[in-house]
Amino acid sequence: MSKHFYSILLALMIMGPDLALAANPALGGATYQRHCAQCHGGNGSPTMAGAADFKRGQGMMQSDQSLLARIQKGKNACPAFFGVLNKQQTLDVIAHIRTLF
Ligand code: HEC
Repeated sequence: MSKHFYSILLALMIMGPDLALAANPALGGATYQRHCAQCHGGNGSPTMAGAADFKRGQGMMQSDQSLLARIQKGKNACPAFFGVLNKQQTLDVIAHIRTLF
């Protein structure tokens, strides 16, 4: 095996865990339609008065980490999704919402 091969292998081992965490907006879209669209609207324009308007990026000007915590915990009429969606599913939903505006 060449030295080159081992450097690539090492790079993949280091990057591996992060790649596994990369968010998937397509999977997130399906989860969004199932759990969020009834209030936030299929395309991000809210169907419920007072729900964040994702077409305008409302409520989205925060980091993925802070959104993750917010979605898990819920906010007023926005239900808590801790125990409903796992961390990866929630990050996928966030990635999807970021495509709406
Ligand atoms: C029952 C209706 C309802 C459902 C279902 C719902 N939301 Fe909400 N959401 C709201 C309302 C209402 C607000 C505004 C809360 C407030 O600021 O008082 C909101 C606000 C938000 C915000 C902005 C938070 C902030 O910091 O201002 C985010 C992000 C959000 N929702 C994400 C989601 C996601 C992701 C889902 C699906 C997994 C979801 N919501 C499902 C009603 C809903």
